Amino acid sequence: VNGLAMSSRPPIKYVSGMPILGPFAENWENVKTFEAREDDLVIATYPKSGTTWMSELVDLIIHGLDTEKTKRDAIFQRVAFLEYAVPNMLTGTEILNRIESERVIKTHLPVEVLPKHFWEKNCKIIYVARNGKDVAVSYYHFYRMAIVHPEPGTWEEFLNSFMEGKVAFGSWSAHVKGWWNARKQKNILYLFYEDMLEDPKREIQKVVTFMGKKLSEDELEKLHQLTSFQAMKNNPMANYSTIPKSVMDHSISPFMRKGICGDWKNQFTVSQNEQFNEYYRREMADTDLSFRFQD
Ligand code: A3P
Repeated sequence: VNGLAMSSRPPIKYVSGMPILGPFAENWENVKTFEAREDDLVIATYPKSGTTWMSELVDLIIHGLDTEKTKRDAIFQRVAFLEYAVPNMLTGTEILNRIESERVIKTHLPVEVLPKHFWEKNCKIIYVARNGKDVAVSYYHFYRMAIVHPEPGTWEEFLNSFMEGKVAFGSWSAHVKGWWNARKQKNILYLFYEDMLEDPKREIQKVVTFMGKKLSEDELEKLHQLTSFQAMKNNPMANYSTIPKSVMDHSISPFMRKGICGDWKNQFTVSQNEQFNEYYRREMADTDLSFRFQD
């Protein structure tokens, strides 16, 4: 257990030019110098893009769909978060350094900030991207409930910070584009949250193949059931309910909130939507990457 001190709602800090949660900055040296291993599997995402969903999937696949094994610990311990550092909890790097082999590592780092060892070891990386409107809404509610974040302000204020890239882990558009551009040269499977919702088994099959495994149709179906939104919402080892209330307060907003595509329509005003569309057009002008905003 580290000796970091935290007042609630610590301000954002900057590391490697990227805004990050204040307490995370204190452990940055250990992240930068982290020793990757060849058999590490990395799950990389911008926050609120389906990280936990993919983590549960991958952990189930590694453990042969044995739910007795995936019950061994909460998802944030089974798939440790590389940059994680809050007071009175083990840091991500401390947890990872203790794991023997077949590590699955969660990270929210932009592609250019990921420690270079991961590239040297040619680790497999699964990237999940989600449309920016739903990400912004989900992130706003997450800022409210996870008090390791600064105050989000009003929704309007938060949305502006989001479009300016002044939230933890920086610009959404730069993140999704950076990883998109890297995917051809590197060992990266790039998936979309919207595709996972649309046809979960099709997307799960891609993950299984990328991991070099084979599953029967029945097993695919079982995986799909075990990782449905409802199943994970009801699973204390997947829904973050075991994390201390000083880190996440589910009475403000549950971690497993809605799990749908298009919830932004309940949050954006007409004018906010126009502003976002303008931002999106501008940011996406230099890429062939595109997102679906409704199912
Ligand atoms: P909402 O806040 O829109 O509901 P992350 O794990 O990257 O933090 O992403 C969290 C988002 O993924 C939340 O979105 C959460 O509800 C959603 N989510 C988690 N598990 C899911 C699942 N099995 N199916 C669909 N969405 C899921």
